[in-house]
Amino acid sequence: MWWLKNVHVVDPECTSIQVRDVLIQGDRILKISDSLTQEEALKQFGQNSQKGKADLKEIKVIDGTGKYLFPGLIDVHTHLREPGQEEKEEIATGARAALRGGFTTILAMPNTKPVLDQRALVEFVVLQGERAGAARVYPIGAITKGQSGKELTEMVDLASGGAKAFSDDGRGVQNAELFRLALEYVKLTGLPLISHCEDEGLAQGGSMHKGEVSARLGLKGIPSSAEAVMVARDLILAEETSGKLHLAHISAKESVELIRAAKKRGVDVTAEVNPHHLIFTDEALLDSEYNTSYKVNPPLGSREDQQALLGGVLDGTLDMLATDHAPHTWEEKMKPFGEAPFGIAGLETALAAVWTYLVKPGKLSVETLIKNWSLNPSRRFNLPGGAVQEGGIADVVLFDPERIEKVEPGWFASKSLNTPFLGRELQGFSSMVWVGGELRYQRDQDKIWQEINGVKVQRDIVKYRMNRRTIECLF
Ligand code: DOR
Repeated sequence: MWWLKNVHVVDPECTSIQVRDVLIQGDRILKISDSLTQEEALKQFGQNSQKGKADLKEIKVIDGTGKYLFPGLIDVHTHLREPGQEEKEEIATGARAALRGGFTTILAMPNTKPVLDQRALVEFVVLQGERAGAARVYPIGAITKGQSGKELTEMVDLASGGAKAFSDDGRGVQNAELFRLALEYVKLTGLPLISHCEDEGLAQGGSMHKGEVSARLGLKGIPSSAEAVMVARDLILAEETSGKLHLAHISAKESVELIRAAKKRGVDVTAEVNPHHLIFTDEALLDSEYNTSYKVNPPLGSREDQQALLGGVLDGTLDMLATDHAPHTWEEKMKPFGEAPFGIAGLETALAAVWTYLVKPGKLSVETLIKNWSLNPSRRFNLPGGAVQEGGIADVVLFDPERIEKVEPGWFASKSLNTPFLGRELQGFSSMVWVGGELRYQRDQDKIWQEINGVKVQRDIVKYRMNRRTIECLF
């Protein structure tokens, strides 16, 4: 039993914030109320327990003054790399990184090795997620076998195995007829189809956004049309089929316009934006000596793109924030810019980065943050949590808006540190995270998850010397 005192709570519809006392019993939120007396708290717990009364010794009291109690954030776009590329991330390390970042639920993309295109593989991810005992992990099944864009997977079978959506993320489905069919079939499952919008003909060989900066740096650019053309196609197909569509990592102003217009017409579409596209532009590459931590797909856009994306979040055109957590090894990311893989590891820094660069300066409200990173994802993907409300599941995060940490090697629970925030200070971090009423993470006591999971993980610091930089990595 938990009694969280004086916490800032966002209401379930994300319209206001109030200071409340919150009681948690079992896996549920028992009561949300104005400041409670000891007698009142005992009475509440007692009424709800089998014995008919509660003992003070059983209640853990936390003073949350100055902190928020957020509904656990839900990230609908993570790459966990297991099976097949465990040197980058495992399901367990990713699920722990999620907790540290304030996420109680994450959806794992299927571009693993092998691709999650069969029921047994989807079930493996579910099992590994349960074994990790950290954030809830749900798999996303592939749209096409091997993500080869040629033949559809058995979507109904994958859904029975636990898939919460379908995607070929990492690649767009190039064949329009196949994507149209997928939108038809997905209706049998009631789940959304997640589109990675990228026309490979237009994007081919590019490594950053095509524009003035790519011209100055002499790097081959990817035009905005590579995304927007496929956004337009997918919206037309969703309208024709009435299939449930979700657009991943929207990055271009043209795409925002297209989605806004489609929503006005009533198309069943939701869309997400990644923190890095809201915080950085392609100009970051000018100052960073070709730092591959900024290499991501879709690429960081122009200032106009950045403004359009924020506008899209503020007017509801873009419904969700999502990390696109894409861990890669240091060795791969130390390759020349054109050859390094696309991707930014985001689970542990995303919330703090959004807090530091958007919420603190007043560009984004706390209510919108929670709506986009918890409420909307839970509704669209039918996932637990999404709100702090009486009777609701106790997937919650005690969030400290004042806490400042420096992002350094050795700081991560993730196996990868390919983030542009490496070496920077960020503000706003989770203090404690509960999943189903169970405390699974407590900052400064990072061993808690290990005790719950019953597994001791031996990690060593390894020094890397590459490109004149010495980096310590944890393994
Ligand atoms: O930057 C990216 N990395 N974008 C994607 O779509 C895929 C991801 C990955 O899997 O590394």
